[in-house]
Amino acid sequence: MRHLLSMADLKPAEIEKIFAISEDLKSKYEAGLREPILPGRVLALIFEKPSLRTRVSFESAMINLGGNSLFLGDDTGWGANRESLADFGRVLSQYVDVLVVRSHDHKTVEELRNYCTRPVINGLTDYEHPCQVLADLYTLKECVGRLRGHTLAYVGDGNNVARSLALGCGKLGVKFHMATPSGYRFDAAFEKLLRDDVPDLEITVTDDPAEAVAEATAIYTDVWTSMGQEQETAQRKRDFAAYQINEALLAKAPAGAYFMHCLPAHRGEEVTSAVIDGPQSIVVQQAGNRMHVQKGILAWLLSRAG
Ligand code: CP
Ligand code: NVA
Repeated sequence: MRHLLSMADLKPAEIEKIFAISEDLKSKYEAGLREPILPGRVLALIFEKPSLRTRVSFESAMINLGGNSLFLGDDTGWGANRESLADFGRVLSQYVDVLVVRSHDHKTVEELRNYCTRPVINGLTDYEHPCQVLADLYTLKECVGRLRGHTLAYVGDGNNVARSLALGCGKLGVKFHMATPSGYRFDAAFEKLLRDDVPDLEITVTDDPAEAVAEATAIYTDVWTSMGQEQETAQRKRDFAAYQINEALLAKAPAGAYFMHCLPAHRGEEVTSAVIDGPQSIVVQQAGNRMHVQKGILAWLLSRAG
């Protein structure tokens, strides 16, 4: 049985396999077909933070595939007022076939995974967002055909999305050029994981956004203040002020470079409306692909879960 907590959990060939399943199911979906390949299967969603894309795309994916999903509210969770993660995981695993968990602390999903006898999928933690990044790389592949050799420029916070992107780029031969203020870059433990897991990753890190985007096929950014960091908002606005993706920065990238964002976006902070709503933006395609690629993830994981 396999879990998906980190992009480090997947080998390149496994990502390609998930993409192939996703592509097949997406083309059928667009032709009006809802292939029921997971009949009777049940997905549980447990979310400690808000969500539109992750929650609804997983729920719709399960319904399209002939299964169903249960969104478990606050009255069903773990914690001091309720029960231990161990009891929660051992019991819930007997009722459902797969779990998607969005938690504040990555250690929560790691610990829960140890007690679950069903696959656990990370639906975003403070450390990684693998489902997002699989959809992002799938989307970029749709745009460029073959990913290897392209450059993704990431401008902004060295956060959960950035970590998963760096790992994903390393697996699929995409160069990762990062512009991030010092103090917001990857920590030493994650740099070690990158060296160990994707030793061939071509990565550059600078504090100059123009330098990062100079050769970019796509420019990616995320919010400056992630969920749970709201008390740092004022400081982060100051620290990231020079890292906004605007038309002036886009003009320093190769003509036609794509603009990417995981959403939700804070227009006027990390990106201007002119860019995110402009012709080079593929953010809506990214969000749409969350559902198609998660079908690929679900089908792939459940085919291995017995
Ligand atoms: N991108 C993403 O995960 O969005 P939600 O927070 O709406 O799920
Ligand atoms: N970095 C953002 C991503 C949201 C999808 C957050 O964690 O809030």
